[in-house]
Amino acid sequence: MAEQYPDTPRTQGSSVFLCDSESRGISGSRSLYINHKTVYRTCAFVMEIYGLIGCPVEHSVSPIMQNAAFNGLGIDATYCGFRVSEDNLKDAVKGIKALGIAGFNVTIPHKESIIPFLDILEEKALGIGAVNTVKNVAGRLVGYNTDGRGAVIPLKNAAGLDGRNVLVLGAGGASRALCHALLDEGVGFIHLANRTPERAESLCKELMKAGGSCTTSGLSKRELAESVKDVSVVVNCTSVGLYPEVDETPFPGELFNSDLVVLDVVYNPLETRFLRDAREAGAETIPGVEMLVWQGAMAFEIWTSKKAPVELMREAALKALGEGGWK
Ligand code: ATR
Repeated sequence: MAEQYPDTPRTQGSSVFLCDSESRGISGSRSLYINHKTVYRTCAFVMEIYGLIGCPVEHSVSPIMQNAAFNGLGIDATYCGFRVSEDNLKDAVKGIKALGIAGFNVTIPHKESIIPFLDILEEKALGIGAVNTVKNVAGRLVGYNTDGRGAVIPLKNAAGLDGRNVLVLGAGGASRALCHALLDEGVGFIHLANRTPERAESLCKELMKAGGSCTTSGLSKRELAESVKDVSVVVNCTSVGLYPEVDETPFPGELFNSDLVVLDVVYNPLETRFLRDAREAGAETIPGVEMLVWQGAMAFEIWTSKKAPVELMREAALKALGEGGWK
């Protein structure tokens, strides 16, 4: 039977969206009324909107993963990808505020350049100098970084990190986020190996300033053979091995051993050559999709204050990646 809403505006046959008292601009009525009768529950007008801004965003797994989480918990929300060029970033952020978008992720190339347009930065994001998650709190945009912590959770689950020495390959944005999160976990020292030595040295200085112990080298086989002797965790934070360059690896396979825990931040393909070599040497391997899932789960928890359905999110991400639709 149709519900009656005495306070619904009178509209002789036309459609009306009744805004509720908690409306945040886009979140409005729960139902579509025609002549005071509930006709059907709407989608576009009732749910909270979340999204991803970046360029490109078309291949992102985040919409699939986050929508699986919203559906799984019965939350009236949706998550969309928005392709935003660098020139449009400022206007996009203004639009996000004006439309009352509830929260969003940020990906390449905006993780650093978005900072001046946000109202508040969480301390960790400030330290890293990059943001991947934003929450709209009553019209004020608060920036967070869940990238590094997302990588650290599966590492911690597999190995425990307190006092461990870690070899990190790469010194770009992914490496910076991971290294800061590793310091928070109380690792022993971090050895940074990077193709461009100056970049490794600059990140190393930053980590030492933050209270860490750090050394650097290049990516030659000799240097890697030397540095792997003193560590129990190896993480690839370079983009080497990413589809379509699936036969590439930044680390000679013969240098792995069975005492190592190995993580690759590259998640396409699901098993990179780097991880395959590590697995074949008997090391414990953690695929990059775990980092993707956990950074997404942490973003979900920031937005909703609910425990993320990690299993559901992992299932959705694996299905999307496994189907090969992201190549
Ligand atoms: P991200 O934000 O994903 O970390 P980035 O900041 O561009 O991206 O960093 C990419 C990392 O992959 C860098 O450490 C880069 O090495 P350089 O600092 O020397 O550029 C590394 N990288 C990319 N392509 C590489 C290659 N072919 N061989 C070795 N390292 C590579």
